[in-house]
Amino acid sequence: MKPLFLSAAAALMLATAPFAVMANETVAKAEEMLAKAKDMRAEADALAKEAEAMLEAAKSEAAEAAAMAKAGEEAEPDAETAEAETEDDAPDNIKVAYEEDGKYFTEDDIPTYNVAADGTVDWYSFSGFRRYHSECHVCHGPDGEGSTYAPALKKSALEMDYYDFADVITNGRKHVGASDNSVMPAFGTNNNVMCYLDDIYVYLKARGTEAIGRGRPAKKEKKSAVYVENENACMG
Ligand code: HEC
Repeated sequence: MKPLFLSAAAALMLATAPFAVMANETVAKAEEMLAKAKDMRAEADALAKEAEAMLEAAKSEAAEAAAMAKAGEEAEPDAETAEAETEDDAPDNIKVAYEEDGKYFTEDDIPTYNVAADGTVDWYSFSGFRRYHSECHVCHGPDGEGSTYAPALKKSALEMDYYDFADVITNGRKHVGASDNSVMPAFGTNNNVMCYLDDIYVYLKARGTEAIGRGRPAKKEKKSAVYVENENACMG
């Protein structure tokens, strides 16, 4: 009887051993899955936080845009009086002294804008309107009006020296303060800006005096042959 009993015990052990191994494996697997779930949860938490931050940022951006749009509506230019100012009693850094191939200059050979009595703007100003709105307005606001992030360039163009103005655009500028950290990027290697510096400058000057109102100028002079030549040479 003995051997039979022993062999029965042995058989039982032999039979249960694989179950024990399998149970251990299942525990290990379950532990692994739990760890994975924990990781995923941490990741999801981080994502949720990020999404929340993005939502906040988007909300404040939307509020800012709404405020800017409202400010824009309130700041409708008075075209009549503005135009009168640009005629004869314009300051020296604006007043047209001569014209060359559709480009207007002051007495000091600084580019300036010209708006005819019927509202036709010179080609450079019109081109400047387009270039400004493709490269600058995201930070500086539509129509040179400025934003909470970057200054109103319609004012800068009047107050800053032409060469300083060009220098900031070419080399950029960084303002690091206690409460703000704003960066004007350098555009020195961007042909879409560098080839149109004068265009952007005269457009913004015209915005500064309100000789050109907000939005797209309705009437413009033709591109001169010299302009096309220079543009092609610059854009290479
Ligand atoms: C990424 C945002 C951004 C873009 C795009 C940008 N700017 Fe600026 N710009 C700034 C900020 C910010 C400042 C203020 C820097 C400082 O405080 O020194 C600034 C300053 C300037 C100034 C100096 C103004 C002053 O009154 O001192 C000029 C000029 C200027 N930008 C021209 C331009 C032009 C022209 C373009 C388009 C070709 C342009 N910027 C595109 C952010 C930008």
